[in-house]
Amino acid sequence: MSQFNYIKDIAKFGLDNDQEKLLTALNELIEHSKQTKKINFALQLQSILKESLRQNKASNLVKAGSESHFNRIEDREYNDLILEKLTSDYRFKNLVTSEETKRELELFVKEHHAVDVLRKYNLPIANKILFHGPSGCGKTLASYVIAGELNKIMVVVNLGSIVSSKLGETSKNLAKIFRKAASEDCIIFIDEFDSLGKVRDYSQDHGEMKRVVNTILQLFDYLPQSSIVIAATNQKDMLDSALMRRFDVNIKFDLPNEAQIAELIGLTLRNGQIKLPAKASLKSIIKAALGLSYYSIQKTLITAIKRSIFANIENKSIATPTVDMKVWKLLLEAEKKALET
Ligand SMILES: Nc1ncnc2c1ncn2[C@@H]1O[C@H](COP(=O)(O)OP(=O)(O)OP(=O)(O)O)[C@@H](O)[C@H]1O
Ligand SMILES: [Mg+2]
Repeated sequence: MSQFNYIKDIAKFGLDNDQEKLLTALNELIEHSKQTKKINFALQLQSILKESLRQNKASNLVKAGSESHFNRIEDREYNDLILEKLTSDYRFKNLVTSEETKRELELFVKEHHAVDVLRKYNLPIANKILFHGPSGCGKTLASYVIAGELNKIMVVVNLGSIVSSKLGETSKNLAKIFRKAASEDCIIFIDEFDSLGKVRDYSQDHGEMKRVVNTILQLFDYLPQSSIVIAATNQKDMLDSALMRRFDVNIKFDLPNEAQIAELIGLTLRNGQIKLPAKASLKSIIKAALGLSYYSIQKTLITAIKRSIFANIENKSIATPTVDMKVWKLLLEAEKKALET
């Protein structure tokens, strides 16, 4: 199919408000552009798409938790560089992980609480940390936790957008962000860190991109000890060894196992306004949820909760709403199916 046909499809599905087909057509156009070596165009489209999906996702989950966990701080200059600046009151209790991951994260936080002690012994402080693992398993959340635990402002850099939209200025902008963040004692969170690897892969264009990667390497090497950089990726394979080697700590976020799913359910229902039915059905629902991300499991549970609340209203029941496990199971199955395609 030619580029024009994809564009016609996109126009049609966009005007029809057919989100699903629109996304498929956009993804096809991105692939087509990569294959026909229109790499910058493909990356820009990809960023637009990701950003829009991210915004939908974020607004769902922030409301779903009902507590307001972080505040956005407006800042014109940062906005120009496609950034967010936020404070967070997330804590370790908001994050479900393996014991090992939790220990690693706690050690990292501890190290930054004990900067003075480490300095006395002339020891370097670990300040470059990589989060990797599948989508929806807590990489972004863990960065909020670190910002919350250390009580620091966090600057969120979407490398995908910066790299694709500001070609020619990327190195300068990155240096500016790092300088400013260091002077304000912020954490720098670089999402989609794999964008660097990806761009490097394609052979055209590449004076600029080589410069960007070299800039990052230099910024990392000269990062002041008081600054913290957290990078996240769900495609660790895309990163080459020169980049990987720069990180002091490297933490994997996995899909949840049964115990972690149970913990996530507890966390999601923690305020006790919604009940779960008897234990037996819990076991089978946990099995049904295996293989999905924390995000998908939480999202389907929240949908099921809403439906129980509506059912109660319809039946004029004044009992505490109880999650209908059948409904939740169907939602889990639908989610699995949607992710397969
Ligand atoms: N480990 C976890 N513990 C508790 N909640 C989680 C966890 N992982 C994900 N969630 C829930 O899912 C939401 C989305 O997760 P998050 O944004 O951290 O995923 P991610 O790993 O950064 O994904 P992506 O690679 O797509 O950016 C979180 O805000 C939280 O509500
Ligand atoms: Mg993320």
